[in-house]
Amino acid sequence: MTTVSASVDRARVTELRDREEAAYRARTPKSAELHERARRALPLGVASSFQAYAPYPLFMTDARGSRITDADGNEYVDFDMAFGVLAAGHSHPVLAETLIHRVANGTCYTFPVEDSIILAEEIKRRFGADLVRFSNSGTEATMDAIRVARGFTGREKIVKFEGGYHGHHDDVLVSIQPPRELMGPADAPHPVPASAGVPASRLTETVVAPYNNAEALERILDRHRGEIAAILIEPVQFNIGVVPPLPGYLERVRELATAHGAVLIFDEVKTGVVLAYGGATEHFGVQPDLICLAKSIGGGVPIGAFAGRGEVMNVIEKLPESTGAGTGLQQTTIPGGATRVAHLGTFNGNPLSMAAGVAVLTRILTRDVYPGLHAQADRLTAGCQAVVDDFGLPGYAINAGPKGCVMFTPERVTNYRDFIGLDDELWEASFFYLANRGILLPPGPDDQWTLSVQHSDDEIDRYVATFREFATELAA
Ligand SMILES: Cc1ncc(COP(=O)(O)O)c(C=O)c1O
Repeated sequence: MTTVSASVDRARVTELRDREEAAYRARTPKSAELHERARRALPLGVASSFQAYAPYPLFMTDARGSRITDADGNEYVDFDMAFGVLAAGHSHPVLAETLIHRVANGTCYTFPVEDSIILAEEIKRRFGADLVRFSNSGTEATMDAIRVARGFTGREKIVKFEGGYHGHHDDVLVSIQPPRELMGPADAPHPVPASAGVPASRLTETVVAPYNNAEALERILDRHRGEIAAILIEPVQFNIGVVPPLPGYLERVRELATAHGAVLIFDEVKTGVVLAYGGATEHFGVQPDLICLAKSIGGGVPIGAFAGRGEVMNVIEKLPESTGAGTGLQQTTIPGGATRVAHLGTFNGNPLSMAAGVAVLTRILTRDVYPGLHAQADRLTAGCQAVVDDFGLPGYAINAGPKGCVMFTPERVTNYRDFIGLDDELWEASFFYLANRGILLPPGPDDQWTLSVQHSDDEIDRYVATFREFATELAA
């Protein structure tokens, strides 16, 4: 662990935070008004609870390239990029043209289209997968991948990691950011529901492990020998800021999954086609059995996908009579006599999403764009780190590929429990300060910026300069 010896004047942080929140309110009366109205029609005034934050979310009207405009006409350089959906940027001209053509020629057939083959072939190439299926969101992708793993192994339990977010179905709404008093021992965390309404019976199927601790995972797998269908992991934990895997960790998780006959699922909803051309799978050189994709593969259109090894994916056609010798996998027997795993969905593979995916993957996020994205991200991280160093802020700047943040905590975060110490107030002060000056970040310290192919070096320098102004005022 690296420790930065730094501190801030608490009273000054509070003062800046309050001043900047007041300025935010003064600049955005239309959003406040819309939110008041929205609360009478939508719980929390939003369509997804992730969109709600205090004092109220910005309501947006337009976006193009790297810019987004709110209901009061304020323009921002968008570093949120829809929680990481938009590595292609807003309404990329190639995508816009594709979608206009699609909208004029039918957006839903529920008959297959050739674009689904082209997109599946592209995903196969990028991720070393044999077979692909499409869904409409990351939630569906992880839900379906888990069912496939259960069908393949004939087992019911899954392992997920504390602090990891994989969507909003019951199996994974567990131990996302559990309260300290409920989380249990560090090396054998208790499963803590992240929502009311998750049946207690589901919790018995989700085993929680600490991220970045291979020894603890090994012990947990030993305790549940022969029971674990899948190990579901986000290769970089992107729902607690940016927490990369320690050297050798993912390799060890791969070995353990194989040794225990569990299907290794990489949740690449955020990392896929963003971290690298072939996502985290390529970036870290570790091959999972299944991957889950969503967000950036659609360039802003709802889409999801899961893909992987043919013998696993093939349970959608037919369950194996017996499973791979030497892998420890057990004979699959399904109560009720089902002979294959259901994977369904009216909108799966719809022409709009498929056309978007093909345009994004074959014409926008091509292999040649990644070095530029990485260079810009490194520039932004280095710029923010210089500010942190110059002003002795308690924190550090970090990125993994084109996604990064300033973690306002003096110690390097390696898992969820380290993240709990994050300085929320300092983060809020910086969020409002930057937003008030046209630099928009995701509205939560657990998320991170995402760069797109439409961001410029000037915009990155503007972010750094504004962050430096913030640090200067903080120190004043
Ligand atoms: C890693 C990860 N997996 C799954 C999901 C769920 O995706 P969706 O919101 O499209 O259902 C998310 C969403 O933020 C995510 O970050």
